[in-house]
Amino acid sequence: MFNIEDFDIKLDTNYLGRNFVYVEETESTNKFLMETNEYVKNGTVLLAENQTEGRGRLDRIWVSNKEQNLTFSILINENINPQKINLMNLASSLSVAQSIENLYQLNVELKWPNDVLINKKKTAGILLESSSKGNKIEKLVIGIGINVNQPSFTGKFNILPTSIRLEAKRNVAREKLLSEFLNIFEENLRQVKHAPEKVLNDWKNRCKLIGEKVKISSAEEIKFGIFEDVDENGFLILKTQKGSEKIHFGDVSLN
Ligand code: BTN
Repeated sequence: MFNIEDFDIKLDTNYLGRNFVYVEETESTNKFLMETNEYVKNGTVLLAENQTEGRGRLDRIWVSNKEQNLTFSILINENINPQKINLMNLASSLSVAQSIENLYQLNVELKWPNDVLINKKKTAGILLESSSKGNKIEKLVIGIGINVNQPSFTGKFNILPTSIRLEAKRNVAREKLLSEFLNIFEENLRQVKHAPEKVLNDWKNRCKLIGEKVKISSAEEIKFGIFEDVDENGFLILKTQKGSEKIHFGDVSLN
């Protein structure tokens, strides 16, 4: 059972997680925050011990054992700059990586756009969803699933999964990890506004595929090329025989 007091004691943010909603079960924390009009405070965090229809990127599902991991979403509804959303996406995975490194001294890698890997296996995934009015983004929901204490995984995965416990070989306090993540994420979100190059460089330093021959798959097509860079807006730059191309979404893997 998640101990809210333990979490709160370590929380050192101004707004992220200051409104904290805990539920035993919901379909998806992203769906809940996207649809609710009940929780409107900027920075609200909704944590569910169990999701019955956890959503993943590219219409996949996110499966996570009950009460062992962290499945939560963050509501952002103030001062959203649409041009910064991809950087916010990178900042989320960067913050997960930094919090795991700080607390468990593990080597964490990032895979564009926002997979968090330990020893090449997936430890966390992030799904951003938004709603707009006209050309203004009204609401952004950042959904994060971190495999924390799950002892084993069954099923079919496009990247092998792991958990922090499996890699660190010890049990992990979810409360401490969540507060550490939110403390770091609030600072990284501030940097996205004022010093985005810092977030971008910290992200790129953890991405081992830059410079490699890669394959980028989406529902529509598969592209091949060299992963040249990530641009200032967070898009992947792929060097192909036809020149450099900006990639907005897809799954990257070594070719
Ligand atoms: C991915 O890697 O495909 C993204 C997975 C995102 C999963 C999290 S769990 C909390 C939040 N609620 C959801 O339904 N999905 C995200």
